[in-house]
Amino acid sequence: MTTILAIETSCDETAAAVIENGDTIRSNVVATQMESHARFGGVVPEIASRHHVEVVTAVVEEALEKAKVTYQDLTAVAVTEGPGLVGALLVGIHAAKAIAFAHGLPLIGVHHIAGHIYANQLVAKLQFPLLALVVSGGHTELIYMEKDGQFQVIGQTRDDAVGEAYDKVARALALPYPGGPNVEQLADTAEATLDLPRSWLEKDSYDFSFSGLKSAVLNRLNNDKQRGIVTDRAALAKGFQESVVDVLVAKTVRAQAQFNVKQVVLAGGVAANKGLRKALTEAFANKDVTLLVPPLSLCTDNAAMIGACAHSMWLRGIAGNMAMNARPGLPL
Ligand code: KG4
Ligand code: ZN
Repeated sequence: MTTILAIETSCDETAAAVIENGDTIRSNVVATQMESHARFGGVVPEIASRHHVEVVTAVVEEALEKAKVTYQDLTAVAVTEGPGLVGALLVGIHAAKAIAFAHGLPLIGVHHIAGHIYANQLVAKLQFPLLALVVSGGHTELIYMEKDGQFQVIGQTRDDAVGEAYDKVARALALPYPGGPNVEQLADTAEATLDLPRSWLEKDSYDFSFSGLKSAVLNRLNNDKQRGIVTDRAALAKGFQESVVDVLVAKTVRAQAQFNVKQVVLAGGVAANKGLRKALTEAFANKDVTLLVPPLSLCTDNAAMIGACAHSMWLRGIAGNMAMNARPGLPL
């Protein structure tokens, strides 16, 4: 049996979790800083680091308490090594190193995006080869995994990440941070849809582009304003969301067929989007494919996913050491 304590501080959530055998959540604690960043309309790195320093110890202790385990029960300590905000990452890494040193535990450095993918291991057993659609504030990627721990990026965004586009569109629509859920909520109230372009790129490409779509939303708002027209903001939000979902789903369906995988997994903060979850579920409903979609709490940043990924690394004999440093641009 393995019992892993995992810590995640790559952005604006201070999170700690205890994961048993890579697939069972004993505890999953997330302290969000959302309110502190909301008035700035986005994450302020320095504020994020300071908040992490203030709460990381209490969050770790709460995770251990809720799991009813002590440091002596742990097999290893895992922490997000990158990518992310350097100051924010460093807080988690130093906390993990201190625990590893004090209790003689192995230290496992986890890639944040790998963590998002392995969140699905907490839902059902991952079956390789699989295809992962990773959609977050910093990433939009289609990843082919031939086996455990092997990541081949077959498509990625050429400009904005999908979550970033959601956040920028939210700001243009005067919606508060975080943008994604608020754009979705507004779109849900729409009685009509404003048709917006879809960015398919080259015929065979699995890459994405969302900056043109974002500009189309901004142009529409500006043009209407200049002409004194009141924009149907809900219809615009719906049009934006439909364009995003259409492209994400179509490329995922094509990649599933080409790579002939039997399992497709959804990952990252934007995976919380109900429209995307529904469209993907429908797209694979009549196919011989299992679609895994994490529950909402495991889509946005959390430490349970870091623990699940660390378990698979542990089984493969991968562990870090005290020289570990924050790696803001860590490749998969
Ligand atoms: O994975 P995540 O929590 O942090 C990163 O690693 O980036 O993703 C955050 C992103 C934000 O851009 C947020 O607006 C977006 O996920 N998001 C959503 C929804 N919930 C969160 N986007 C669309 N619809 C949602 N319901
Ligand atoms: Zn994330």
